[in-house]
Amino acid sequence: MIDMTDRIVVITGANGGQGLAETLMFARAGGVVIATDLTAEPFPAVAEAVKEHAGRIVYRQLDVRLPQEWVALTRFIRDEHGCLDGLVNNAGITRRSRLLDATPADLAAVSEVNVTGALLGMQACVPLMSSGASIVNVGSVAALSGHYPVAYTASKWALRGLTIAAATELGPQGIRVNSVHPGFIETPMTAGANPAFREATIDETPLGRTGTPEEVAAVVLFLLSPMAAFVTGVDLPVDGGQSSHGGAKSVSDALR
Ligand SMILES: NC(=O)c1ccc[n+]([C@@H]2O[C@H](COP(=O)([O-])OP(=O)(O)OC[C@H]3O[C@@H](n4cnc5c(N)ncnc54)[C@H](O)[C@@H]3O)[C@@H](O)[C@H]2O)c1
Repeated sequence: MIDMTDRIVVITGANGGQGLAETLMFARAGGVVIATDLTAEPFPAVAEAVKEHAGRIVYRQLDVRLPQEWVALTRFIRDEHGCLDGLVNNAGITRRSRLLDATPADLAAVSEVNVTGALLGMQACVPLMSSGASIVNVGSVAALSGHYPVAYTASKWALRGLTIAAATELGPQGIRVNSVHPGFIETPMTAGANPAFREATIDETPLGRTGTPEEVAAVVLFLLSPMAAFVTGVDLPVDGGQSSHGGAKSVSDALR
């Protein structure tokens, strides 16, 4: 078990899916989570978790696109805790339009949350961090491939670049910055996906199934922890092998 006692992290997009799983796992490891999302009040599962882990999960409203909300959040953290040990830029949205249908509005909307949100988060939180702190940006297999929803894919490639630049910039301060790239994970985001997308993804996944939010959260927890003390600037897929084979799986399967 990873011990995160006395460590404080911010997790964005924590009302459900992977953000909630990361929040619960971090709190169970003994840390304090400032769990944030768009709503003034947390969703019921988060409210339940706040009650169950009294003092170790605190919910705050945060729209990652708004600099003034990051200022208010970090002021609260400075007043209440004095410092910060981690940030998980997990909040994300998708648009599923393809190349010839995607609009500038699709590109702008997705980039504002998935890229600008992460940039603002790092800019706000790094001043509260010191050596040993860790930032995890949640990318996607889309950031490692030519995934068809073009605005989403472009945003996750941009986030990947932002992450590596941040790792270079913050390394001398002892602050680590890494990406995790989930494959198809069963969350509210994928609940609305076309069943054909789900099936085709499973066909491309060597482990032959979709993933759970907890399987991503475990890797995020590792990257936040001192066990990953010499790991920075890394792209870590959590995708059952989907991004590993460069298309060779269908060839291998055809010849079985
Ligand atoms: N589920 C998957 O298969 C999958 C695959 C690859 C990557 N991802 C990425 O994982 C992350 C988590 O996704 P999820 O599957 O848990 O999705 P989800 O839709 O369940 O959760 C995303 C959360 O982000 C929040 N959010 C959206 N816009 C926000 C904003 N402006 N400010 C603050 N919060 C905002 C939502 O309210 C929601 O609670 C996302 O970055 C997503 O792109 C998911």
